[in-house]
Amino acid sequence: MWNKMKLRSKLDREEADYFPPTPRKGWPIGRLVRFVSLLVVFIAGVVSGLYGSAHYTRYFNSQTELFFSATIYSTNCNKELSGMKSFVQPTNMMHSMTDDELFWRASMVPKMGEYPFNRVPKVAFLFMTGGPFPFAPLWDRFFTGQKGLYSVYVHTLPDYKLSVPETSAFYGRQIPSEETSWGSVSLVDAEKRLLANALLDFSNERFVLLSESCIPVHNFPTVYEYLINSAHSFVESYDENAPQGRGRYSGHMAPDIKLYQWRKGSQWFELHRELAVNIVSDYKYYSLFRKHCKPSCYPDEHYIPTYLNMFHGALTANRSVTWVDWSRGGPHPARYGAPNITLEFLRSIRNNGTFCLYNSMPTSICFLFARKFAPSALEPLLNLTSTVMGF
Ligand SMILES: *[C@@H]1O[C@H](CO)[C@@H](O)[C@H](O)[C@H]1NC(C)=O
Ligand SMILES: *[C@@H]1O[C@H](CO)[C@@H](O)[C@H](O)[C@H]1NC(C)=O
Ligand SMILES: *[C@@H]1O[C@H](CO)[C@@H](O)[C@H](O)[C@H]1NC(C)=O
Ligand SMILES: *[C@@H]1O[C@H](CO)[C@@H](O)[C@H](O)[C@H]1NC(C)=O
Repeated sequence: MWNKMKLRSKLDREEADYFPPTPRKGWPIGRLVRFVSLLVVFIAGVVSGLYGSAHYTRYFNSQTELFFSATIYSTNCNKELSGMKSFVQPTNMMHSMTDDELFWRASMVPKMGEYPFNRVPKVAFLFMTGGPFPFAPLWDRFFTGQKGLYSVYVHTLPDYKLSVPETSAFYGRQIPSEETSWGSVSLVDAEKRLLANALLDFSNERFVLLSESCIPVHNFPTVYEYLINSAHSFVESYDENAPQGRGRYSGHMAPDIKLYQWRKGSQWFELHRELAVNIVSDYKYYSLFRKHCKPSCYPDEHYIPTYLNMFHGALTANRSVTWVDWSRGGPHPARYGAPNITLEFLRSIRNNGTFCLYNSMPTSICFLFARKFAPSALEPLLNLTSTVMGF
């Protein structure tokens, strides 16, 4: 056995070194070896080729999808170009882009101030929900007759199927969702996912984050005018010199984020497009929060207020347009159910006698939305919308 192998390699070498290739009869060992090794190389080539092309296909598919998602929207633009008045929304929000692919696509911005089509700015309503959506009938009444001025996006638990009639504004508006848990950075991920999906529609101009326990307290035209014409985004932001404020800052975030820049605020934001793009595109500061803001630091209460304070302070109103009642203290706000819903209560949310600044002028309208409401509040609210809220 060993001798045979030695002989074979000797023959090979001699053949290679000293003999020019000449046609020979039969299958001498050297040719056999060469044939076998060529075969091995060939098979290896085919196998790696297949493997590579599998990778290529996967890559290519994700590229086509990115391209495809771009064409969905440009098709819509074309329709607008050819004289369509309202923006046709894609009928299904599902896609298989990863967060990285999605954020990359959403981070693209037009460099021309003018749109080559008649762009009617829309308000994107971003709903972050855990499951059932009890106030869908109330919101549907709010949206009635406003087609073309709003769009809806819903982030749920990954496997949750929202069941609403085809006529609902929520029908087919679920986006690919991931698990979220209270107080963790996964909430910020879900917010970015909602923003990014909504950014793909070029007509969305303002982006408001809401939960399943939120309700509107003014009619759509009021909400639309208020948001579209505001020079500021409505993000609560304050510097709290207490353990639950500055106490949550981590020195590991320095020197990129300094203590004096640290802010706190409710996660229920309202953003204009420019700020939404900036937040979706930010990896640097987001990564610091992901790494160093862990309980009892809550990224959803600090990341956006701090980031905006650092770079876009002048564009934020530092107040929220979503009313909430913290007057009872504790870690959770008061929740209102059926017995609490009265004319006076709703009127006091809409205007409690105080004034807020809007485009640097005082206004009696401080809040457009309110939380938190229990499902039992739905029926009494539906009874009162036309008398109190004008829809
Ligand atoms: C909000 O706070 C920022 C500082 O972060 C400030 O520059 C800005 O003027 C404030 N906005 C308003 C509307 O007062
Ligand atoms: C709602 O009404 C119930 C029954 O009257 C009362 O016990 C509860 O405190 C009220 N809740 C709030 C948040 O006002
Ligand atoms: C009205 O709302 C503001 C802002 O939430 C609050 O500070 C104030 O105490 C309220 N005033 C009344 C009279 O309820
Ligand atoms: C709603 O209004 C209807 C008709 O006015 C009334 O019968 C019903 O009791 C009301 N429901 C609630 C919860 O107020």
